[in-house]
Amino acid sequence: MTKSKLLIDRRSALKLAGGAAVAGLGVNSFPMPAIAQGAPIKVGFMLPYTGTYAALGKNIDQAFRMYVAEKGDKLGGRPVEYVTVDDQADPPKATENMNRLVDRDKVDVVVGTVHSGVQMAMVKIARETNKLLIIPNAGADAATRAACAPNVFRTSFSNWQPCYPVGKVMKDNGHKTAMTITWKYAAGEEDVVAFKQGFSENGGQVVGELWVPFPEVEFQSFLTQIAEKKPDAVFAFFAGGGAIKFVKDYVAAGLKKSVPLYGPGFLTDGVLPALGEAAEGLQTTLHYADDLDNAADKKFRAEHMKRYGAAPDVYSVQGYDAAALLVIGMDAAKGDLKAVDPMYAAMRAAKIDSPRGPISFSASQNPIQNIYLREVKNGKNAFVKIAHAALADPGTGCKLA
Ligand code: BEZ
Repeated sequence: MTKSKLLIDRRSALKLAGGAAVAGLGVNSFPMPAIAQGAPIKVGFMLPYTGTYAALGKNIDQAFRMYVAEKGDKLGGRPVEYVTVDDQADPPKATENMNRLVDRDKVDVVVGTVHSGVQMAMVKIARETNKLLIIPNAGADAATRAACAPNVFRTSFSNWQPCYPVGKVMKDNGHKTAMTITWKYAAGEEDVVAFKQGFSENGGQVVGELWVPFPEVEFQSFLTQIAEKKPDAVFAFFAGGGAIKFVKDYVAAGLKKSVPLYGPGFLTDGVLPALGEAAEGLQTTLHYADDLDNAADKKFRAEHMKRYGAAPDVYSVQGYDAAALLVIGMDAAKGDLKAVDPMYAAMRAAKIDSPRGPISFSASQNPIQNIYLREVKNGKNAFVKIAHAALADPGTGCKLA
């Protein structure tokens, strides 16, 4: 047998059966399968570690690691190795960044990301390669609608979920007209669609839509248009550094009292220390609040404070639950990443006692969760009431079930 023929046989034999089980070949000739060696599970974080969403990426990363540490730093009995890629919330770089993790670093699972535009490029590659992808923030509706896939799970929200309930909140507060202002990319666009649906179902009318290029934070000309139009209220989506600048500018423009500001809770989550007095009284809807009365949240907040010296936010919760979901899958697969049937079945059926309250997963593998109305009081996103209980995304166009 020639050397090259021998090589081909080794490769295909390993590919076929993982070495030791190949009939007629000396067991010692081949490496043992990774799982038998207790080889680490490689977790690839593709998150923004710089730019306007940097704090969001950091909080997801930290809380994910915290959960795994609470489980003895093991996934399905195997140690864990982390690889990180800074995606900078930059869609044109998304394909190359995801390919780096999948092809070069050969991670076993990708956890990412924050920005909806980056997310859709990642989902495309996950679908092509069957790589397990857990989405810890980005709400791109299509990821768990038409582009859903058995290997794509989300532990955060669809863009529709936190925005649809805002319409009823505004109506209950007596507002009949509203303007919208958001960054112009998938998340902002889908947020406005969801808000308009909820607002019009409650008799409200959107009288103007303002679009800010992402990630720009020059709001002055837009705020002037709001002041001129005088709607009853404003619906806004900004997050991270952009949310801080927007809320401060809104207050400085003298609009906070005359045109009440609402939005999904990204406007105030994780940014209250920077916003201070400016945020007091703002009402938002989200799947988390800073003072939920449940044991899982109390433990989570105390652990986070102890480990990182900072209070967690909604992004931390989503990262923590991404790890919880992966642990459920890896335990069901007994650490064998090839055992995707039991792994994905367990993840689909997961019921997580999350810091946000109980969550389960819809047929399109997106969380079913309470959406809370919160109000900023004394520097906290304080729980007001459940705005919509156990809200599931419609999952339109997903053909998994
Ligand atoms: C998004 O792009 O989907 C997103 C980014 C930050 C906060 C919420 C959603």
